[in-house]
Amino acid sequence: MKLNIAVLPGDGIGPEIIEQALNVVKVVSEKFGHELHYKYGLTGADAIDKVGQPYPEETHQLCMNADAVLFGAIGHPKYDNDPKAKVRPEQGLLEMRKRLGLFANLRPLVSFPSLLDKSPLKRELIEGADFVCLRELTGGIYFGKPQGRSEDGKTAYDTCIYTVEEIERILKLGFEMAGKRRKKLTVVDKANVLATSRLWRETALNMASSYPDIELEFMFIDNAAMQIIQWPKHFDVIVTENMFGDILTDEASVISGSLGILPSASMGVHTSLFEPIHGSYPQATGKNIANPIATILSASMMFETAFKLEKEAESIRKAVEESISQEIVCEDISKDGQSYGTNEVGDWICKYIQEH
Ligand code: IPM
Ligand code: MN
Repeated sequence: MKLNIAVLPGDGIGPEIIEQALNVVKVVSEKFGHELHYKYGLTGADAIDKVGQPYPEETHQLCMNADAVLFGAIGHPKYDNDPKAKVRPEQGLLEMRKRLGLFANLRPLVSFPSLLDKSPLKRELIEGADFVCLRELTGGIYFGKPQGRSEDGKTAYDTCIYTVEEIERILKLGFEMAGKRRKKLTVVDKANVLATSRLWRETALNMASSYPDIELEFMFIDNAAMQIIQWPKHFDVIVTENMFGDILTDEASVISGSLGILPSASMGVHTSLFEPIHGSYPQATGKNIANPIATILSASMMFETAFKLEKEAESIRKAVEESISQEIVCEDISKDGQSYGTNEVGDWICKYIQEH
């Protein structure tokens, strides 16, 4: 099969982890006889420095013409500490999500048996935890207009907006996903306060009769934030709006032991995009310590979701699991002080795939 990939390394540790993930993609393509084509595109602070925009038109065209996008990370501290900056790297990520129509962000949360003791949570609570969070990605307060400041600069506002259509299309995926799993769907909202949340509930209730075998429950976001670490095994499929999903999944990452191993897939209208859920981790840039596993597992999701190549995806997952259980890992998940560099972990995983 011909695999046509847009590769967007972005900022911070992005280029280092993307290099490892791309090596894995190359090895898998070779092993399973696929013809790999890839092209690099600029995004984020890197793109602002080079061409003045965080998501240049050329990058958008590259993504539109690819079968999948493999993405590293976006963000640079020089913008975080400058609230007045006119262009920000994150705008590139949001624009990319919007223009590619990536309304569904799938974030699987599993506990790895050999990492149970890396989590600050008790082993018996997380052992066997396995759920997915489906985060709405192109609506809500991230995109609602108006957003801005009053003329005197003393008032600021954001707007949270959702239409029934936007809610329906993400809930539909949630119901379908639950159908393929343990048949339980938790809609997380703040319906006791927010009008948008009440529209989410109403829409979910209207759809429920079409999915009679799915157990539907609602949970307020504050309660969900507690339940997710108090009793993570309660959950199967969580579906929620943009910002709640952002916060909840960072929190949920403690179940797996590190943000450095969690992948995600964003799907919707145009080309699907695969990216780690962590950010650009500026403090680690260039130090060869960033964990490449989240991006490597994102590449696995790419094979599975964008190319429907399950065996290829599985070979990556298997190699990653093996690297974790044999403790060939970066410092964030290492146990007894012995840790490996970003490239050593990547190389080990490539070699394992080649040899098995
Ligand atoms: C994420 C990130 C982004 C988000 C930031 C970098 C804009 O935190 O992908 O989770 O909030 O969506
Ligand atoms: Mn986030």
